[in-house]
Amino acid sequence: MARTPADLVRAEPDPPFEITFDGRTVTALPGQSVAAALWAAGILAWRTTRYGGRPRGAFCGIGQCYDCLATVNGEPNRRACLVPARPGDAITTQEGHGRAGLAV
Ligand code: FES
Repeated sequence: MARTPADLVRAEPDPPFEITFDGRTVTALPGQSVAAALWAAGILAWRTTRYGGRPRGAFCGIGQCYDCLATVNGEPNRRACLVPARPGDAITTQEGHGRAGLAV
């Protein structure tokens, strides 16, 4: 039987909750970052580059590379690897510099 880190420390985490990614329901665990929750759901890209529209997701995972920028609850340019997932969060793919919808 495989043991998880939570098993080893006898942790009793709070129950999972739901967020959405581009309207798709994703289950997140308490303490997970947005990037971790998306990864766990098999979603590897949630941004496109300004030039060429190439897909990007998390790269460094520690807030240094900015590859993981996402729109979280309507706010663009959030680093998904640093933003804690919260129940009901709406994550959307960020296109380009992320300000197109804000008329900035
Ligand atoms: S993955 Fe590098 S800043 Fe988030």
